Parts: sequence; C-alpha cells; structure tokens
Amino acid sequence: MVAYPPLRHGGDMLQIDKLTKRFGDKIAVVTANVSIDKPTMIGIIGRSGAGKSTLLRMVNRLSDATSGTITFEGEDVTALRGAARRNWQSRCAMIFQQFNLVPRMDVVSNVLHGTLNRRSTFATMFNLYPQSDIHKAIEILDRLGIAEQASKRAEALSGGQQQRVAIARALMQDPKIILADEPIASLDPMNAQVVMQSLRTIHEEDGRMVIANLHTLDTARRYCDRVIGMRDGRIVFDGTPAQLTTGVARDIYGAGADFSEAATSTEIETLDRPEVREAEAYV
Ligand SMILES: Nc1ncnc2c1ncn2[C@@H]1O[C@H](COP(=O)(O)OP(=O)(O)OP(=O)(O)O)[C@@H](O)[C@H]1O
Ligand SMILES: [Mg+2]
Repeated sequence: MVAYPPLRHGGDMLQIDKLTKRFGDKIAVVTANVSIDKPTMIGIIGRSGAGKSTLLRMVNRLSDATSGTITFEGEDVTALRGAARRNWQSRCAMIFQQFNLVPRMDVVSNVLHGTLNRRSTFATMFNLYPQSDIHKAIEILDRLGIAEQASKRAEALSGGQQQRVAIARALMQDPKIILADEPIASLDPMNAQVVMQSLRTIHEEDGRMVIANLHTLDTARRYCDRVIGMRDGRIVFDGTPAQLTTGVARDIYGAGADFSEAATSTEIETLDRPEVREAEAYV
C-alpha cells in the first residue's frame, strides 16, 4: 500500500472555524467557517441584522467570540490578550461607515493617529511625531489623491474625502488585512466609487487582504473577487461574483420572486437615508 503524505492543513492565510457569537438569547453569528488562502478582496453581503458587522468585529477582536477560532498565518487570533491583541488590531485595521475621525483635528494628525499603538505616552501627549512618519502620512494621502487637504480639519472634508483619510490612517499601520464595515453606506454614488476603487487599488498594488461589508450587490460584484452571503447569522453563500446569480441573491436576502437587484444598487441617490436602506433590505 502506498503511503500518501497527510493533507496539509493550516496553510491558509486566514481561517475562521465554527465561529459563533451570542448576545444573551440572540445568536448573531452561527458556526461560521471561512478559509482564505491568499490576499483576496472579499465582500460580505446580507440584509440588516444578518451578522456581517459581528463577524468583522470578531476578526478584529473588537468583540470576543462565544466559541470557535480565528487563525491568521497559523496563529490563534482568538487567544491573543493585552499587547498581543492590540498588535493584532493594528495588523488588521478596521474602517467604519462613519469614518471615526477626530473632526476638529487636521487631516495629517488624524492619519498619524494610525501609529498610536507604537508610540510612547509622552510622545502622544505632546503630539510628537517622527519626521519620517509625517512624510509617510503625506505620501499615503497623496496616493489617495487628497494630499492637498492635509492641513484642513477633517470636518471640512466631504464624506468621500473623510473615508479616504480613514483609509490613510489604516495604511499608516501597514496592515495585512483591511476590514471595512459598510465603508460607502454614507456616501453618494460618485464618492462611493472613489472609495471602493481606493480599496481595490490598495488590495492589488500592496497585496493586502480586504474584507468589506457591503450593502449593495452591484458593488460586491464589481470590486470583489469573492462574495460571502450571510442570512440569520449563517454563511449561506461563498463564491465568485459570477456564481452570485439573482436566484442566489434572492436566497441571501430572503426575498420573494419580485426581488429586484436595482433596489440594492448604489445608483440610488438616497442611499444614506435609513428608511431607504430598510426598504432595500426587505425587497
Ligand atoms: N451588542 C449587541 N447586543 C445585542 N445584540 C446585538 C449586538 N450587536 C448585534 N446584535 C444583534 O446581532 C444580530 C447581528 O447584528 P449585526 O450588527 O452583526 O448585523 P449586520 O448584518 O451588520 O446588520 P446591518 O446591515 O444593519 O449593519 C442582530 O440581530 C443584532 O440585533
Ligand atoms: Mg452592520
């Protein structure tokens, strides 16, 4: 009998294994399994309450899993504590729908905040940044097409510009993974495209993994290599944009035969209105 070498496990870059999150009686994420073997741009879709944010927050360790594991390059991320956990959070930077910038602070300082967890308390208190970090911040802003905004207050920028500042702040950490929780949900269609294109470029040029929760199907299809669909806390689809047919989408959204993709399109100008988002989720 020929002895075959054992199948290799653990070769995956990011491995999510039976990940579950409970909030009291409510199960937000149920035994989620995802294997990502190389830096990929992934979109997570699903209606409101499906568990998309909870999943991303567990990956970033903003929220602890109830059970299950997350492994990155062979390291059990779910077990990290204290400084090791903070270190993980800078390797896997997160951006949010509402940008989370300091509004009254200038753009460069906001970007330099991305270096906070490797600076001393003293340097932080007196706003002391090494010249090299300042140069790096300006370079990143330039790459994102907003270097001329560097000295303005963050609050003076448009939503799309502010989200690019948040991306710049994430890039200051030189992360392996960028997690984006509905990065374009507050933006008009044009700014939404600029921000998605920035994430795509960062993925392609730097080889960073990007995982984005997205509210619209067409965005997931246009920018992502792989789409994960969630419904009621479960992963119900994991495949390519081509495999994401209207029938599959209808299943993910739990919609009837009258499901219309147009209703989940970024072309809807009132995208940032909550009542429209609600309506979209229930078509
Ligand atoms: N801190 C919390 N406490 C209690 N329940 C929570 C908490 N966070 C999330 N949930 C619940 O878990 C479920 C999943 O929520 P989650 O925010 O992950 O959904 P989502 O897919 O991101 O939705 P949306 O598209 O509206 O952002 C929901 O039923 C939500 O009410
Ligand atoms: Mg969410």
